[in-house]
Amino acid sequence: MRFIEWNDNFITGVHECDIQHKKIINVFNAIYDAIRLNINKRALKDSFNSLINYFDKHFTLEENLMEKYGYPELQEHREEHKKLKETIDKFMQKPEEEINYLEVLKYLKNWWVNHIITMDKKYGLFLESKIK
Ligand code: FEO
Repeated sequence: MRFIEWNDNFITGVHECDIQHKKIINVFNAIYDAIRLNINKRALKDSFNSLINYFDKHFTLEENLMEKYGYPELQEHREEHKKLKETIDKFMQKPEEEINYLEVLKYLKNWWVNHIITMDKKYGLFLESKIK
């Protein structure tokens, strides 16, 4: 069973961002499989850290594009990215044995789905015409 499936509602219309969003879905699914297979917590933490690093890379790409093309809601968007990073940091600062990775993954998925269909799609509408 897949944890999350890509669907066309996630398309922003900005190719590079859509590619990265698909990769994030793949990583969510890979981590979910690892949790179900009960792999050790050290390996899970490493996987989460890779995902978090990828989120950073993705947020930087989006923010740079928004800045380059003068997106008027850049600050609000940047703030949302920052809040997520702070929340993840709090989760991950707990001792390894206290981290409920499935809960963290569910939180990330819910945040991400909500974020993409509201804020990301909004910059998509703005940027789509400017980038072409
Ligand atoms: Fe695709 Fe604003 O994160």
